[in-house]
Amino acid sequence: MNGSIPDHVAIIMDGNGRWGKQRGLTRSEGHYAGVQAMEQVIDAGIELGIKVITLYAFSSENWSRPKDEVNYLMHLPVRYFKQKLPEFIRRNCQIRISGNIATLPAATKDALLKAVDQTKSNDGIIVNFAFNYGGRADIVQAVCGVLREVKNNNLSIDDINEELFHDYLYTGDLPDPDLIIRTGGEKRVSNFLLWQSSMSMFYFSDVYFPDFTKDMLKEAIYSSFNKGMTADW
Ligand code: IPE
Ligand code: IPE
Ligand code: MG
Repeated sequence: MNGSIPDHVAIIMDGNGRWGKQRGLTRSEGHYAGVQAMEQVIDAGIELGIKVITLYAFSSENWSRPKDEVNYLMHLPVRYFKQKLPEFIRRNCQIRISGNIATLPAATKDALLKAVDQTKSNDGIIVNFAFNYGGRADIVQAVCGVLREVKNNNLSIDDINEELFHDYLYTGDLPDPDLIIRTGGEKRVSNFLLWQSSMSMFYFSDVYFPDFTKDMLKEAIYSSFNKGMTADW
């Protein structure tokens, strides 16, 4: 934390499907609208001086959705970065991915890796997309990473502690989230950042993610960390 501004805000961007349905649109149109709302969140993050924003974009459980919806969600990063990557570069944002990218369709994987590669030397806000991410899978892959080091004699069992283990998570070099926001009205963690959220504040909003605005993000931060003060952003 830097005063009342969190270093790391993570968002469970929920409610896209219901947003679409509510308007007589498809769930996919809701996902597309959700992508537009990410701009609001990133703008607010830059304005406030937040260091890291993690956006939960596709969970390891989301594979069980209808095939058409999964295909659409896999195509979105391709379309999104084709359009937005120059802007991320111009704004000095560093893009990261947390999740298992190895099992993604080639075009999705390539779009994500290209975005990471082309922004790796930027030193502004880190926008970390949790894509094909699951908190339990994250812990298991970290355990495997540590075991590999032990097997190769790079680590001994006595070296293993919480701090070391943290480095092996997908978010290894990022600070733990100070605040986790979930939109869409559900009060669930849905397998997000299970290890990393041990000390996080939680903020739940009933608003469907496509309707989530810059000011709502500021309000979430303000009401979580500035209780008793008057709002004057
Ligand atoms: C969250 O919105 C976005 C993703 C899971 C990709 P949902 O698709 O879960 O929308 P609802 O919760 O069904 O409204
Ligand atoms: C959480 O939302 C995952 C993402 C926002 C990517 P879901 O809608 O998939 O979670 P559940 O089904 O409510 O647990
Ligand atoms: Mg949902």
